[in-house]
Amino acid sequence: MEAIEILGGRPLRGSVSISGAKNAALPAMCAAILTPASLLLHRLPQVRDVETMAEVLRFLGAVVETREDGGREIHLSTLSTHRTPYRLVKTMRASVLTLGPLLARFGQAQVSLPGGCAIGSRPIDLHIEALRRMGAQISLEHGFVNARCGRLRGAEITFDLVTVTGTENVMMAATLAEGTTVLINAAREPEVVDLAKLLAGMGARISGAGSDTIRIEGVSGLHGAEHTVIPDRIEAGTYLIAGLISGGSVRVEQVYPHHLRALIDKLREVGAEPKTDGNWIEASAAGGLQAADIHTAPYPGFPTDLQAQFMALMTQANGTSIITETIFENRFMHAAELKRMGAKIGIEGSRAVVQGPTRLSGAKLMATDLRASASLVLAGLVAEGETVVDRVYHLDRGYADMVGKLQNLGARISRVRH
Ligand code: EPU
Repeated sequence: MEAIEILGGRPLRGSVSISGAKNAALPAMCAAILTPASLLLHRLPQVRDVETMAEVLRFLGAVVETREDGGREIHLSTLSTHRTPYRLVKTMRASVLTLGPLLARFGQAQVSLPGGCAIGSRPIDLHIEALRRMGAQISLEHGFVNARCGRLRGAEITFDLVTVTGTENVMMAATLAEGTTVLINAAREPEVVDLAKLLAGMGARISGAGSDTIRIEGVSGLHGAEHTVIPDRIEAGTYLIAGLISGGSVRVEQVYPHHLRALIDKLREVGAEPKTDGNWIEASAAGGLQAADIHTAPYPGFPTDLQAQFMALMTQANGTSIITETIFENRFMHAAELKRMGAKIGIEGSRAVVQGPTRLSGAKLMATDLRASASLVLAGLVAEGETVVDRVYHLDRGYADMVGKLQNLGARISRVRH
């Protein structure tokens, strides 16, 4: 097993180039299922989840090739199987994004149910209900979602909850449906907008992506396209926080600052003086950090995917910070590990109360999900002595070369085998 070792206490300085967004890359790859032509995708991040999705697509019969310029070409002319196996789905819930496209193009899909995951139960009932409304017959048997349909029919669908992959799955399905689909209470995340842009490039008729109502007029077929995925706003936020927690200053480059407005506002509130222009953001905490409260919410609210990292930061701020997690019921597991480093954190249901500043001391830590792992690495940057974060595979799922990028910013960090 591999772990990450960090020797804390060195302020990070410099700039870091941000990779393409994992959560835009995964649905974009699934969009290849919708067309017999090929899709050329640029700026897919070099992360494990992208490789797992490539494996899922190959299993279904796609050819996935990497070009010299790093672009990935995906081509699914004939389906080998319409079954997405548990072996792949269990390591990556986003495999469920194959369901809508498989049904829309092939009229048949069998996708293993993702089951529970570390951050909560995360059901897919809203995906299933919406596809049923569009005419799919869906049953749950032996841990699989078995779905069949003739041509899907457009429908008006109101999501009970804002669901990102649910919106993406149904939006993809609706592109090839008969008639018009209207998604109400749709997710407004930039990743949804990016997918809509890609689908439009393939010939889909979509309007309203980025608002809470998306309208899709079905067409009879989609063609190939070339697309560059958006920058990873969560990776960018993680490095901005890395700079601040270490007492230094980091500039994240090749980002879309408007995707990070909620974080930038919070950084202003904590006294980090964020600066931004064009395609970069910089923050520094020369004057010290003040506590601030956050409340996670669907976009444009504060992202749940930055909650763990922000909690680590608040251990170094003056005052009491209240962190409310509203999206996932079990996304505070990093708190217990941060406490082992000396953080003062009390958990009351979906609220965490963090008292800062505290001196953190290096420890052996173990994280149970991607963003929790990131928050422990951040804490290690400011802790006294050595921190070892175990189970690096969580980080590898979603951060491209995190160790190399942090080393370039001056961190004493390395991967070790044990
Ligand atoms: N929900 C349901 N039923 C459904 C779908 C969702 O009850 O059918 C609930 C979930 O349990 C959760 C809430 O609705 O409480 C929102 O979940 P959502 O469906 O939006 O999450 P997701 O689509 O599974 C994506 C990201 C996550 C990110 C969330 C929230 C991808 C591949 N994943 O997940 O990213 O946390 O949206 O923004 O886009 C990560 O990158 O670390 C990560 C977990």
